[in-house]
Amino acid sequence: MNPFLPGSLESDLSGRGHGSRATPGARAEDEGYWRAVREAYAVPEDFIQLEYGWYHPVAKRVLAAEMEAMRQGQLRGSHYKRGEMNADREAARIDLARVAGADPEEVILTRNATEAMAIVLLGIPLSSGDGIVHSDQDYPSVVEAIEQRARTDGVVMQTARLPLHPQSDDEVVRCFEAAVTPKTRAIVITHVINHTGQVLPVRAVAEMARRRHLQVIVDAAHSFAQLAFTVQDLDCDYLGSSLHKWLGAPLGTGLLYVRRDRIASLVPLFPDTRRPATDIRKLEHFGNRPDSAHLGLREAIRWHESIGTAVKQARLSFLQRRWTTRLRAFPRIELLTPADPARHGAIGAFAVRGMEPETVVRRLLDEHRIFVNAVNHPVIRAVRVTPGLPTSVAEIDAFVEAVRSLAGSET
Ligand SMILES: Cc1ncc(COP(=O)(O)O)c(C=O)c1O
Repeated sequence: MNPFLPGSLESDLSGRGHGSRATPGARAEDEGYWRAVREAYAVPEDFIQLEYGWYHPVAKRVLAAEMEAMRQGQLRGSHYKRGEMNADREAARIDLARVAGADPEEVILTRNATEAMAIVLLGIPLSSGDGIVHSDQDYPSVVEAIEQRARTDGVVMQTARLPLHPQSDDEVVRCFEAAVTPKTRAIVITHVINHTGQVLPVRAVAEMARRRHLQVIVDAAHSFAQLAFTVQDLDCDYLGSSLHKWLGAPLGTGLLYVRRDRIASLVPLFPDTRRPATDIRKLEHFGNRPDSAHLGLREAIRWHESIGTAVKQARLSFLQRRWTTRLRAFPRIELLTPADPARHGAIGAFAVRGMEPETVVRRLLDEHRIFVNAVNHPVIRAVRVTPGLPTSVAEIDAFVEAVRSLAGSET
């Protein structure tokens, strides 16, 4: 048993009398179950948190595990570093690989999604004139990594324009395909667009990419541990994610998956000359970092698995639909997230006609104590709403009423 993981945190929800046989759909609407989940978190009392999208605060048991590991790490110092550290890190790798449906030899622990994506985008072999297809709705730090590669190596950025409300997977595939040229070598695809919550059909885009012999790089920052999938389902070559979002792991944890046959050619961002080129650990040469995060991560995975991704996905989509369905019918409100359940998860985005998103956000906080955030992106101006695991139906309903009163009022 790991001395850094308090045994008192072993109990899971099924041990609290809530059973485990309900379908994800039924479980999603069982407020008794979600009240028990909420109790597992410290929830702010002075506002309603509907911005779980930056990061999802950890469950109390995860914080306790991380803090205990931090305390032990400071107590034991380099005795821990020279002793148990590697075994703990390897155990975290194995746990994480299980969640991803990957082989542990294809997974590294990064500090966040930005780092994971940069390792791939700056490390894949590309020559001047080679193209990378990406979309106009990718995350800024991912776009910057491609821009940097363009500046240093003459790589060509090929930008696909994506619709907000696609009617089919094919429509999205065609957008990516339209940006491909004979010089394209790779496609970057964001699984869940952070600005709107739109879920992109990664598998269908990957199939098109395979036909054209292109590598597929997935930004799964918002899909990993929120949507039920494995890396095999997506058929991708690389996948980067944060773990401090939907896995509920400590801040400063991320994942990079590299398919086994792509490892040898990926040049490490942080130099490593000692490990064999085929060893995934060559990409993980970050120097010292907080080991407590990895022990917190293991506890987060236990907590995550006690709920299950399918149940999380069903609950978060249910909460999203509860507010989007009602506000969609309101004349002054425009939804920027697709209504199709296959194309959204937790996140939703809306605009109030005639009112700046920043004004909506400020008024929701000042007048209703509801915290959401404004999206100010070249192609999307909106208010983003992201419930989390502690979010109750009552909080969503309070939010709907607040927006109705605001949209019914003058600017
Ligand atoms: C789509 C997407 N990619 C990447 C990131 C970067 O994540 P991190 O903060 O873990 O680097 C985010 C963060 O919100 C994101 O939404």
